Amino acid sequence: MRKILNINNNWKFTKDLESNNWENVNIPHTWNTIDGYNGNEYYKDACWYEKELVVERLPQGQRAYIEFNAVNSISDVYFNDVHLGEHKGGYSIFRYDVTELIKFDEINILTVKADNSIIDGVYPTTADFTFYGGIYRDVNLVITDSIHFDLMDHGSCGVYVSQDQVNEESAKLSIKTKVVSHSEEEAIRIVVDILDMDGNLVKYTAKDVLVKENIEVVLPITIENPILWQGVDNPYLYNVNVRIEKHNDIIDELNIPTGVRYFEFDPKKGFFLNGKHMKLKGVSRHQDKFERGWALTKEDHDLDMQLIKEVGANSIRLAHYQHDQYFYDLCDKEGMVIWAEIPFISKAATTDLTGQNAKDQMVELIRQNYNHSSIVMWGVQNEIQISGDLPYVRQIVKELNDLTHKEDSTRLTTQANVMSVPNNDEYNTYTDIIGYNKYYGWYTGKTEDFADWLDDFHATNPNKPLGISEYGAEGIITYHTDEPKVKDYTEEYHALYHETLLKIFNERDFLWGSYVWNFFDFGSAIRDEGGVKGRNNKGLITFDRKIKKDAFFAYKAVWSNEPFVHITSKRFIERATDTINIKVYSNLDEVTLFINGEKINTLTGNHTFVFENIKLSEETTDIKVIATKDDREYSDYAFFNKVAKPNPVYECPDQGGGFAANWFDEDLISQFTDIEITELNITDDVFSTGTILAEILENEEATNVFRKYCPSLIDSPMLSMLSGSSLDYLNESFDIGLDERLCFLMNRELIQIKKEEPVLV
Ligand code: GCU
Repeated sequence: MRKILNINNNWKFTKDLESNNWENVNIPHTWNTIDGYNGNEYYKDACWYEKELVVERLPQGQRAYIEFNAVNSISDVYFNDVHLGEHKGGYSIFRYDVTELIKFDEINILTVKADNSIIDGVYPTTADFTFYGGIYRDVNLVITDSIHFDLMDHGSCGVYVSQDQVNEESAKLSIKTKVVSHSEEEAIRIVVDILDMDGNLVKYTAKDVLVKENIEVVLPITIENPILWQGVDNPYLYNVNVRIEKHNDIIDELNIPTGVRYFEFDPKKGFFLNGKHMKLKGVSRHQDKFERGWALTKEDHDLDMQLIKEVGANSIRLAHYQHDQYFYDLCDKEGMVIWAEIPFISKAATTDLTGQNAKDQMVELIRQNYNHSSIVMWGVQNEIQISGDLPYVRQIVKELNDLTHKEDSTRLTTQANVMSVPNNDEYNTYTDIIGYNKYYGWYTGKTEDFADWLDDFHATNPNKPLGISEYGAEGIITYHTDEPKVKDYTEEYHALYHETLLKIFNERDFLWGSYVWNFFDFGSAIRDEGGVKGRNNKGLITFDRKIKKDAFFAYKAVWSNEPFVHITSKRFIERATDTINIKVYSNLDEVTLFINGEKINTLTGNHTFVFENIKLSEETTDIKVIATKDDREYSDYAFFNKVAKPNPVYECPDQGGGFAANWFDEDLISQFTDIEITELNITDDVFSTGTILAEILENEEATNVFRKYCPSLIDSPMLSMLSGSSLDYLNESFDIGLDERLCFLMNRELIQIKKEEPVLV
């Protein structure tokens, strides 16, 4: 019978093998817990782990595998100095058969070289998040009988539960089992029991086979009148118990929680789960956390899920890579509808034009997660167009789409386009459904622009199911204002932005769903903005999961039925005005305001309640709001202090900084106010603002012009991600502040520089 022995404890770790300077660590572990999100140049290199392992003598014929649940990003594993293999990609499960190498009842040495250096061709190579290095998910020793479900099929569990046809009357499943034998020919029985949630047997089937080496056996089975997995409303899971019996023993067994369901994405009406309309109210999640990096514990995963449930979401985009099995299990259990994806993100490799590693990671993602009923779509790329529109990248995306369909015909393919991909671009035909990462109201334009864009896209592509795969704005809880405006980084703008979009998205039935970017703040070593280094602050909740920003409650008011009231701008304590507006989010119908204990007013409304022109007391004003439901009272408190002058701590020192930056040298540019703009003749053989940055950087003279006008971009770690784009393209996509005058100034100099003739071989 299969045994899974966790071997997380008592490892040794070193950054420098030569030094022999080992530190004791336990898995999950990363060496970037501190430097991964504080604006430092974080440690990216090969590091070493070692573990002594004593294995009791195994009964004749049994097999032993070492199982890694994730090592970022390239690993080499050795067992008693024998190299077992190299694994490329930091997010998936991989295993090695060590049966023949174990010295039983003696010390065996398991050595792992883990390397988080950036290697072209191993995804991701550049992205807006920190690539924490290490063995950051569980390591197990798996002992099996000589005959067992295959453990070497791209890290899968060797059993695939397909939902061939599901409706209210019946759920037709087929259970594909891959059985591996290391014995002589043997008679075995493969049994599938389907148990309901109370453990009662609903149905079973079995097949008797002779096994020698490897076989594949498919067992069809139908559940009549199934209880369907209805997302968060009823995440009903059957237990598919699949086992191998030999003589009187069960020699291998898997319990696969399975929610039977069918779904559809309609281009006009949105998403349907089991025939019921369901707008996907989604949030995106990265897998890191303050003081942990990626080395999350089960409690961390549980807390994330609890918070996602609290806000009332019913769908999660698990960005930008494969997450822990534990979390997908939680999604099945809690009824979250999942978008799962590979890290084919930001920039395609320049050495491997076939995207092999992206394809390998897709096969791993699908095979390892095939049985998670919560997953309905596989994402093939995220903003891969940001580094330029390249024919070979399009080809890879198309091939990834075909591969995904080949691997799984029961789910749909999707992708997250960068916002600048035109509505009529062929990209929008590559996958079954489409997602756009749109940042109106942050990187570009105003929040309200979403409405027209959505309608335009739908008019251009009436048959393409459209979702918003990302949207967000920075919100830093130190900063506050009475007059929220784009790129001010305040908690108020952040909340208003999301409030506005909740309405715009809800009004459009054709939109199948949307995913807030991001549910939690996360580590992004390449960032430095809003006075915070190494972070992306777009979360509705802080990086340590301790503080819910006001925007969290804007969502909770609309999405959740759990009664609450929340006063916004509570952290904006010092007020330099005589009167203020008090905005309250609630999912109850009536909210009553009390000031210094005195009842002021009751407002009736829908989610957002604004008490206007509330006069502040000379010193402190105590605010209380109360709402009732079913005779229960819900309340919230705040206090504000009146001050003579606005407190400067509430103002972000570098508004419009960071990625949303104006990267140009303002002082220099201000010297040219009187310049007359004339038409320039920009030809293909000279440099210009239309030339991709990578090409500019290869030419010294052009680089000097670029440096002169954009000193902060050239030194920014962001450059690696953007180097496949031209300044014109970036300006169109992100509103980087390249106005007509600046463009003229740069081009006037750049067109003097001739591109080198391509060498013809
Ligand atoms: C992109 C990208 C994310 C990133 C986000 C942002 O669209 O997909 O990885 O973090 O934008 O700029 O915040």
